[in-house]
Amino acid sequence: MKLIKLDAIDSTNDFLKGLSQKEKLENYTVVTAKSQTKGKGQMGSNWDSEHNKNLTISILIKKTIININEIFNLNILVAVSVIQVLNDLKISNLNIKWPNDIMAENKKIAGILIENSIKENGKIESIVGIGLNVNQTNFDNLPKASSLKNVKHQDFDIDTLQESVVLKIEGNIEKLKNNEIDSFWNEYGNYLFKKGKPTLFEDTYQQRFMGIINRVTRNGQLEILLEDDSMKCFEVKEIMMIY
Ligand code: BTN
Repeated sequence: MKLIKLDAIDSTNDFLKGLSQKEKLENYTVVTAKSQTKGKGQMGSNWDSEHNKNLTISILIKKTIININEIFNLNILVAVSVIQVLNDLKISNLNIKWPNDIMAENKKIAGILIENSIKENGKIESIVGIGLNVNQTNFDNLPKASSLKNVKHQDFDIDTLQESVVLKIEGNIEKLKNNEIDSFWNEYGNYLFKKGKPTLFEDTYQQRFMGIINRVTRNGQLEILLEDDSMKCFEVKEIMMIY
């Protein structure tokens, strides 16, 4: 595994993407940074992180997703891998908020941004970006954010976490190649935040409605049981959970 450790960069995802366009990188090339000046979150949001307090990492993954229809499998695998690392650290009350926010005690402690591209030869390459809040304790204006230190009241070594996360993802990708994807889906379903509980949602027209999360479909949609007893599937951009 090739590891590139940076002090500061705009975004580790963008840096790794740019590098992979310029040169042939080995599978599992990893980029970390102590600071990101333009950290990217899901759906065009920012990812802010205090200098040298958290894990900000991007991993290049090749030869894993063969079929474009199975692209959500990598989200499942990465989210479950982060959960497994946190479980090993005895972090309790863990959940995955669809599609792939990692929650501890009902607050977000990690976010995942996977950017996929199809190469000229038709192969799919993914940049897996993970932001894990580790030793930062102050989240001004972000009441729903937390960190490992906030939940465990101790400091964690960021390099050790980086190694654990990469090794876990690598190991799980090997399992994926042995057709073990169903076990990752089961684990994802077991950790799904608010599954089976009446929950408030808001759609793109700011209309609020109650529903009960049933499952995440294989193409990554959230299936919700509505008040009129119908079942409806939503894309990420279509709804927001109010919690
Ligand atoms: C989210 O919105 O939940 C996704 C956050 C992803 C943040 C990580 S930090 C490392 C990598 N580089 C980025 O610019 N973003 C991801």
